[in-house]
Amino acid sequence: MKNMEASLVGKIIDGKAFAESFRERIASEVSNIKSEKGLKPSLAVILVGNDPASHIYVRNKGLAAKEAGIIAVDHRLDEETSQEDLLQLIDCLNDDPLVHGILVQLPLPDQINPAAVIDHIDPAKDVDGFHVVNTGRLVTGEISDSKAALIPCTPLGCMMLLEDRLGDLSGLEAVVLGRSNIVGKPMLQLLTMANCTVTIAHSRTKSLKEICCRADILVSAVGQPELVKADWIKAGATVIDVGINRVSIPTSDNPEKMGLVGDVDFNGAIDVVGAITPVPGGVGPMTIACLLANTVTAACRQSKITPPKWRSN
Ligand code: GUN
Repeated sequence: MKNMEASLVGKIIDGKAFAESFRERIASEVSNIKSEKGLKPSLAVILVGNDPASHIYVRNKGLAAKEAGIIAVDHRLDEETSQEDLLQLIDCLNDDPLVHGILVQLPLPDQINPAAVIDHIDPAKDVDGFHVVNTGRLVTGEISDSKAALIPCTPLGCMMLLEDRLGDLSGLEAVVLGRSNIVGKPMLQLLTMANCTVTIAHSRTKSLKEICCRADILVSAVGQPELVKADWIKAGATVIDVGINRVSIPTSDNPEKMGLVGDVDFNGAIDVVGAITPVPGGVGPMTIACLLANTVTAACRQSKITPPKWRSN
């Protein structure tokens, strides 16, 4: 990030600070639920294999859960684990009333079909919100009663940042770059539900730049370092950068230096945007916070307790 004037600093959506205060709120809700209802929310995290990034993500999820007062139990399985053995573990966790949330870290080794695994999780415990039942409920707009969708964590975090910055999103033109099941598609549903007019663009989209230029809200989740340039962005737009791309950023003292950049050319975009999430420190911290919130929501619903209302809109 370049040295910035105060007027530019105000444009930065500080996801790290937002997530920290959200996690404090989650911890306080967990503490109330424990003391008033005797309920201890718990999360089972399954990691198969040796993917180094997945090991870091899973460790961070477990630590964050424990810090919020959520019981977190890790299940580490080796790289050669069969799909059948994994499904058996999920059966046990589905049947265990003391487990409220189940997360299987992706990607999985090649011998395992991720869709079969995700759809084996009890939808009520699917704190990632990836199960077809949760996907279907999100599409049909069932998000607020006891049988409502659990919403995927990264898109939920993006919505919370957008609603905090912009308030009512009604009537705004939104463009989502990327059509993944984890981010792009749920983002399309959530923005539509918030009364935005939404375009979803992807690798085969023609006139990508022109489409982006229409956006009052631009959400990028394509995993291409600094693809989105300043001249793709409408003046005053709110930009949510979901990309986390590891690239070489050589310096004079360290020509081998690696660092993280988003899908958006942040240093160019900052002069044009109304607001933007940085990478790192934007959307990333919200994903973990929303996982904790989903675990508490799932625990409350399974115990017939009204869950806390996490979103203001
Ligand atoms: N791998 C990368 N992102 C995610 C996520 O949000 N959930 C799970 N389960 N795996 C992931």
